[in-house]
Amino acid sequence: MKMICPSILSADFAKLSEEIKEVQLGGADIIHCDIMDGHFVPNITFGSDVVAKVNEITNLPLDVHLMIENADKYVESFAKAGADYISVHYENNYHLNRLLNKIKSLGTKAGVVLNPATPVFMLKNIIEYADFVLLMSVNPGFGGQKFILNSIDKIIELKQMINKSNPDCLIEIDGGIGLENIKLVSDAGVDMFVCGASVFKAVDRIGVIKEMK
Ligand code: DX5
Ligand code: ZN
Repeated sequence: MKMICPSILSADFAKLSEEIKEVQLGGADIIHCDIMDGHFVPNITFGSDVVAKVNEITNLPLDVHLMIENADKYVESFAKAGADYISVHYENNYHLNRLLNKIKSLGTKAGVVLNPATPVFMLKNIIEYADFVLLMSVNPGFGGQKFILNSIDKIIELKQMINKSNPDCLIEIDGGIGLENIKLVSDAGVDMFVCGASVFKAVDRIGVIKEMK
């Protein structure tokens, strides 16, 4: 199943409740929550208390993308807050097997994230432990950036690796996804589409989600 995952990074936080309800009404499948600490990425967002509030607003699954140092210290609090999916970056987590197992032991789906400059082959020895892989198609930190085109080659390469080593593993794409490229990445093999600006900055959010689907 293909899933649209609006990222609340681009929502109006003063109206978070209404905006989440609107995209849910539009057919969003998952709510994507971007957690940034100002160290791993040059921006700061919100923590598990806000995620817990989002969980009160919606009954959609929550996808928590951790762009933070020491993610191992925080995964438990995000799982308790209601995360259904938690992803951690390859680049700053030294003991990924242990961390993915910890996330799964909390009853949460465990994902690995690759930055645009990290090659897919780095996943060779971890792919079998992942429920999903998130490919960043922009450098993490901000919404509204331009899709990096070589992400398509990475999706195709990842899909081949998944078919061979872990066919149940899902592919998520994050960064610069909109109506102009969603079919392209879908055809390449993506299952979960994170959409920030293309949904929340649109005049007709519900129309955009429907057209994406
Ligand atoms: C970027 C975040 C994304 C962001 C995507 O660091 O991980 O989830 O919200 O925003 P758009 O879709 O606007 O590129
Ligand atoms: Zn994200």
